Amino acid sequence: MHEETKEITDIILELAQRARQETSMEPEPELTKSVQWPVQLTIGPGLEGAIACESKIGYVNGTKGWLVYRGYDIFDLCAHCTFEEVTYLLLNGSLPDARELASFKKKLIRYRFLNKTLRLLVGFPIEEMNAMGALRLGINMMRQEFTNIDKEEARPATIDAIGSDEDSIAMETAPKGDIRATYEFKQSETDKKNKGRPKQLDDGHGMEACCHLISGVSTLTAAIAKIHQKHMPIEPDRNLGHAANLLYMMTGKKPTPLEERIMDISLILHADHGMNASTFASMVVASTLSDVYFSVGAGIGALNGPLHGGANEQVLHTLMEIGDPGRVKSWVDQTIADKGKIMGFGHRVYKAYDPRARILGTLAKLLVKENKKVKPLFDIAEELEKEVVSKLGAQKQIFPNVDFYSGITYSCLGIDPEMFTAIFAVSRVSGWTSRVLEYLENNRIFRPRALYTGEFNRKIVPINQRS
Ligand code: COA
Repeated sequence: MHEETKEITDIILELAQRARQETSMEPEPELTKSVQWPVQLTIGPGLEGAIACESKIGYVNGTKGWLVYRGYDIFDLCAHCTFEEVTYLLLNGSLPDARELASFKKKLIRYRFLNKTLRLLVGFPIEEMNAMGALRLGINMMRQEFTNIDKEEARPATIDAIGSDEDSIAMETAPKGDIRATYEFKQSETDKKNKGRPKQLDDGHGMEACCHLISGVSTLTAAIAKIHQKHMPIEPDRNLGHAANLLYMMTGKKPTPLEERIMDISLILHADHGMNASTFASMVVASTLSDVYFSVGAGIGALNGPLHGGANEQVLHTLMEIGDPGRVKSWVDQTIADKGKIMGFGHRVYKAYDPRARILGTLAKLLVKENKKVKPLFDIAEELEKEVVSKLGAQKQIFPNVDFYSGITYSCLGIDPEMFTAIFAVSRVSGWTSRVLEYLENNRIFRPRALYTGEFNRKIVPINQRS
């Protein structure tokens, strides 16, 4: 192992020890065994306290500050594993042996190449779109390029003729309903000859589709980042691991061992997190037996919001707005007085220190040592953490969450703020797909109720008498 990355392992194991000590007096977990359905619970607004399903994939304990994937503690996984191993673990239930890992990595590498999808994507005004919107669009194109879900027979024969003239958009002036406005690229010769190209997937529900998405979201995210910088996407590098290849495609530079390891750990940390909003959104879509591409699209939509994945970008704006460690105290006092939310703090589940923030904060400190541009923001962040924890920690159990240090980490790795949430998706897609696969083994469509508090027996007034 490289000396710098060995240092990271030691640091994480030390952090783990400290975390366990700090919360050792907290009560042992409850509700971790199979239950007899239906189950009686107290449910708060936002489905707080509700149980959506049983799962063996991941566990979060907010009072003890635990995050567990398939029985393994997050600190141990970060110290000893790669994102590929952890993804295999989430999908399959056990860590891979050397042969299984090699074959899994080979599959992910094959799925990195999305030639036609990217060619189509650059035809859209991606540079004007929010990265998450572009990502969702790209996933629909992956679905179209690689699966037979929308059967070939359903395509009108006219489409081939339309495809022969790339500049034309066929339209009927008086629609008869049998021809759709269509624009299609011709399949390139290189694609046909490309032996490494993955085979067409017969359906969009299984493990292959999940692996396709786990790899594809990374390629799409990097391509969107490049297009936003007014450059063409960078071809994936077969010789790099998932994290290194992501950084390479995003920045055009091969990362140092330290950068690669920190990106890898960040991907592990964001891979799964219980029944969070985006995971639930993707499972709700899957429960209708819609395919996993649509499920992941729903996850991306939910992750985009500032109360979920969008918070890390907001954190950076907050730090820039504060501008100086000396201004932190007055800024915090004012924000609390205005009843404002401080981005990167607080969590629905964690009422102790978020273990992911503990790890990322420490790793960000290693990275900023070399980065004069980001160091001032890190100094403000450290001060902000101290101030918020001293004012709201004991009183409201508000501590930094994963988003607080992820933006600083990504900035040091050369990633633009507008791409932070998409990077979160690169990682979380492994949790979304694992949870969807697991849920489908014993599927029941999600259908909660709303408490109707509206009126009854209203009479319809004719339109011209309504005010
Ligand atoms: N800054 C200041 N106060 C906060 C806060 C924050 N970031 N997060 C929560 N609080 C306060 C609320 O004002 C509320 O106080 P009150 O009881 O006096 O009204 C109390 O803590 C409970 O907050 P609430 O919004 O009800 O918690 P929640 O469980 O519904 O929301 C979050 C959880 C994550 C949405 C919320 O903490 C938040 O908005 N954080 C900032 C956004 C963020 O970092 N999101 C990333 C999550 S990983």
